[in-house]
Amino acid sequence: MKSLAAFLSTAVLAVSATGFSSAALALDVEAAKGLADQNNCMQCHGLRKDKDGPSFLSTADKYRNKASAVDEVIKHMTSGKDVKLADGTMEKHKVAKTMPANDAAQLKNLAQYILSIQPK
Ligand code: HEC
Repeated sequence: MKSLAAFLSTAVLAVSATGFSSAALALDVEAAKGLADQNNCMQCHGLRKDKDGPSFLSTADKYRNKASAVDEVIKHMTSGKDVKLADGTMEKHKVAKTMPANDAAQLKNLAQYILSIQPK
């Protein structure tokens, strides 16, 4: 009987955990960092430090209070437009790869993460 109760409470926890993540409202910081790492984004972007590209903080500042911010950042990460590196060379901006490909929720989560960076 005791183990049945334990089983039931685990099942309830599992269901509520699934319900929470499928709502997909909360920012998943670890997933965003993981995706940025897999895509080598941090090679050119610091969280708060400019490298070849602007820091994520300066992108967050640029778009602060703009309703279209998430859409514009997603567009930037997926369109492969020409960008200028610090040494003046031009190249196509990295297109963020997700598994499965072009996963809207993962791209949105990464954009929201970038836009969430606050000054220390
Ligand atoms: C080879 C270097 C490089 C890599 C790798 C790179 N970026 Fe960039 N990124 C740049 C440069 C340079 C700019 C500046 C573009 C400009 O202002 O025209 C930029 C700009 C941006 C911006 C600002 C867009 C805006 O509208 O102001 C965002 C957001 C961004 N990158 C996200 C990412 C993400 C996410 C990744 C990984 C998927 C990534 N970058 C990988 C070089 C890079």
